[in-house]
Amino acid sequence: MRVGLGTGTTARWFILGLAERVHQGLKLRAVATSVATATLASEHGIVVEELGAAGLDFAVDGADSIDPALRLIKGRGGAMLREKIVAASAERFVVIADDSKYMSVLRGRIPVEVVHFGSARTLRVLADRTSMAWALRIGADGDPFTTDNGNLLADSEYADVTDPAALAAAIDSVPGVSGHGLFLGMTDLVFIGHSDGTVEQLSAPGDTVAAGG
Ligand code: A5P
Repeated sequence: MRVGLGTGTTARWFILGLAERVHQGLKLRAVATSVATATLASEHGIVVEELGAAGLDFAVDGADSIDPALRLIKGRGGAMLREKIVAASAERFVVIADDSKYMSVLRGRIPVEVVHFGSARTLRVLADRTSMAWALRIGADGDPFTTDNGNLLADSEYADVTDPAALAAAIDSVPGVSGHGLFLGMTDLVFIGHSDGTVEQLSAPGDTVAAGG
């Protein structure tokens, strides 16, 4: 089994659970969506390898915002480019999240990954094409945040994303952008965890099945 491992506080729980199964004898090969995830998985005995040409059986990751069509905003941790490559390489892409992430319309901070060359111009063009302001993300050290790919990140705060496809197309049209946090038409299955311990499974647009606690 070839498994893609997501990034973030929710994906961390999946990785720890998977590590337990590996210790019990489960055989798998894993690909990590970030250096942080590769380190976590390795520390817990999961063998991590490069993403090969054959792709993956499935990938599991968190999300920042999920709508009823199972469209996502991802990238609060800045790993969305590798996350998208891994998700797109998996036969099944599974999202795990708490119920604060599930909403009728996508909203929140949308990140884009920007190459250094011409980044000021890239942000200007991005603002023109989206009619939104985009700001470079600053890291805890006060310097511009750098992704695992050595690129910059910029974010824009959306109160709601009324047309995710149009927004994704506008962002994709800017040459200096190498990736963004809108994941459209990629998700096969979502597990939503509630504070009472129950889990809801969403497997098709608007189609909700109670999965029990
Ligand atoms: C990482 O870049 C992100 O895409 C995360 O997968 C997403 O932000 C969810 O993270 P949490 O599980 O920490 O909320």
